[in-house]
Amino acid sequence: MTLPPETARLNDPGSVPVVLPYFNQARAPIIPIRPIGPEHRGQLLQHFLALSAEDRYLRFGYAASDERIRAYVDSIRFGVDEIFGVFNRKLDLLAVAHIAMEAGQTDRAEFGVSVLPKGRGLGIGTRLFERAAVDARNHGLRVLYMQCLSSNGAMLKIARRAGMKVRNEGGETEAYLELPEDTYQSHLDALVENQTGQIDYWIKAFMRQWRCFWLFGRCPDPT
Ligand SMILES: CC(C)(COP(=O)(O)OP(=O)(O)OC[C@H]1O[C@@H](n2cnc3c(N)ncnc32)[C@H](O)[C@@H]1OP(=O)(O)O)[C@@H](O)C(=O)NCCC(=O)NCCS
Repeated sequence: MTLPPETARLNDPGSVPVVLPYFNQARAPIIPIRPIGPEHRGQLLQHFLALSAEDRYLRFGYAASDERIRAYVDSIRFGVDEIFGVFNRKLDLLAVAHIAMEAGQTDRAEFGVSVLPKGRGLGIGTRLFERAAVDARNHGLRVLYMQCLSSNGAMLKIARRAGMKVRNEGGETEAYLELPEDTYQSHLDALVENQTGQIDYWIKAFMRQWRCFWLFGRCPDPT
């Protein structure tokens, strides 16, 4: 796919929106976000299977069946794409963001996100987008791209709030965020945020083990 004319202005520093770093989000609550690896495939599958038919349509652009969801999760290219998630205290994945490298493109990636209904409206989708933008920027990408239905009010709000350039084409909307170059600060932000997410996960895992042993004398593997 050819880049929209907007991206031709990438080298113009005046046109580059600022991706706010982690600590400058005055209104954002601290949401522990961590990278997800192949060891979490089971939790990823549970997350996507828990989406309603309507949410699957919004997330994937079609009413994905359970089989298609399984195929999607199996096809995730860990190590090429990036996956970020937010776990609840039971270590279920409450939210997942997928930054997918586009075939044949070295400077842009596609963003997709889903938050389970019980976690919505808390700023998680917004924070995952911001995290994805920092990650894409740190990987030398220049454009983060997103596609959603034009009726997806929540996603469009996130896109506009992030300063994305939004283009409506009938029932579908495409949005582009031009990314500034990475800096020491953006790498530090990512590092701190990954560590925060990791520590949060360890604490939840420990608490979960402790609860299970206390109540049942054993604990199933979360993955
Ligand atoms: C889109 C989605 C990720 C948003 O997640 P979220 O964690 O609720 O997002 P946030 O809380 O960060 O922000 C959502 C904002 O949209 C607003 N919003 C919610 N529904 C809305 C609607 N129908 N119209 C306009 N705004 C809406 C919320 O009030 C919130 O604004 P606020 O922060 O000013 O209060 C979530 O709804 C979802 O998973 N939907 C199904 C999958 C999907 O649509 N994925 C996107 C396609 S890639």
